[in-house]
Amino acid sequence: MPRVTVIGTGYLGLTHAVCLADLGHEVLAIDVDADKIAKAARGETPFFEPGLEPLLRKNLDAGRLRFTLSFAEAGAFGDVHFLCVGTPEGESGRADLSSVYGAAGMLAPYLTSPCLVVGKSTVPVGTARQVMNRIRAIAPAGEAADLAWNPEFLREGFAVQDSLAPDRIVLGVTSGRAEARLRQVYRAPLEAGTPLLVMDLETAELVKVAANAFLATKISFINAMAEVCEEAGADVIPLAEALGYDARIGRRFLSPGLGYGGGCLPKDIRAFRATAADLGVDSLVSLLSTVDVINLRRRDRVVELARQAAGGTLAGVQVAVLGVAFKPNSDDVRDSPSLAVCAQLATEGAMVSVHDPVAMPSAARKRPGLRYAPSVSEAAEGADLVLHLTEWSDYRAIDPAALARVVARRVIIDARCCLDADLWRHWTVHVLGRP
Ligand SMILES: NC(=O)c1ccc[n+]([C@@H]2O[C@H](COP(=O)([O-])OP(=O)(O)OC[C@H]3O[C@@H](n4cnc5c(N)ncnc54)[C@H](O)[C@@H]3O)[C@@H](O)[C@H]2O)c1
Repeated sequence: MPRVTVIGTGYLGLTHAVCLADLGHEVLAIDVDADKIAKAARGETPFFEPGLEPLLRKNLDAGRLRFTLSFAEAGAFGDVHFLCVGTPEGESGRADLSSVYGAAGMLAPYLTSPCLVVGKSTVPVGTARQVMNRIRAIAPAGEAADLAWNPEFLREGFAVQDSLAPDRIVLGVTSGRAEARLRQVYRAPLEAGTPLLVMDLETAELVKVAANAFLATKISFINAMAEVCEEAGADVIPLAEALGYDARIGRRFLSPGLGYGGGCLPKDIRAFRATAADLGVDSLVSLLSTVDVINLRRRDRVVELARQAAGGTLAGVQVAVLGVAFKPNSDDVRDSPSLAVCAQLATEGAMVSVHDPVAMPSAARKRPGLRYAPSVSEAAEGADLVLHLTEWSDYRAIDPAALARVVARRVIIDARCCLDADLWRHWTVHVLGRP
């Protein structure tokens, strides 16, 4: 079995390293962040992901997974090197590829024998070939250092199950040797029936951004319908349900609400728009611009509703916010719609008190000025207004009568459109997209 390194131990890389170890591979994971590496080597995950920490410990104990800061060690160890570094939003929405080229440049001098470098990061089309050329120009192994692109589709909150049993494996390759190597790496999911799609590098890069563009478009479509419903006095919830029964449309990702956020969709949409502009595909530029605009408008709409519910101004109004993670089952607050709403409420003079089951430490690092409350009732103590901004299942289990005893006014804005209207009937409930 090939020995594997994983370069970059963030949300994607750490999950990938742990899951490959769990599939039986010998894995060495590397990062430039010494704290992350020390923590992971002690069996601690630097972020919340259900099921990941026990699996990390299990594979550390089994001796299949190790961590290092040394590229020399990684180069000497691995037959297959997975690049899992970040590609954040850079200037004018373009993907910042400095970590991708940086990591490839740090590894390449140590590639002395035949090996395969596999990109998993989400990158603009054309990046893979450039990475391959740069590696081959530096690596002592030269042309024997092969490159493939294997985009990742895992969802935070379901990352472990998505990695161990993905719904498809996409490989962009330039040689049969690379494909054969990756078939060995993914033998277990392939034997379990996971579909494998093998293609050229450019198409594999595009599959990932096209998938994200489609998902974002679907979310923004239903949110545009929510806007229409708000203007027309119609109800987006039964509308979405009725649309979803059409098998050609489907129900998933057709949930109206506060829109998408996180470390992937927003920056991937903007990076793809920049790529489309470079390629002169103007129709895609305008489609993705509109998708982004619709998405951001939902945040403004929640602030507008809050202002209206507070009687025209948010100055001095006490607001309890339920949920700051960009989605449930995650502590990721990168481009969190909720945190953006909190920031705007605070700018307009509201006193914001925030609760989240797991994301408060990461939110507090990003927005230290907000008040973070250890429980829902402490966040809601004396509140004039409650905002439900992340759809944790804990919040659907709230007893509205108990909450009514601590708030100043029984007014809630359900920006995720999922609270039970009947349960909350003694409250004034505003739902995005509902009359
Ligand atoms: N997070 C997700 O759910 C997800 C899903 C699919 C794809 N992706 C893609 O995967 C990539 C990584 O995303 P992430 O969320 O894990 O990012 P992240 O910011 O959590 O992790 C990136 C890691 O790379 C490390 N790094 C940076 N430069 C390095 C270098 N030169 N050598 C070694 N390590 C280096 C950083 O220290 C960090 O730990 C992105 O392209 C993202 O779009 C992410």
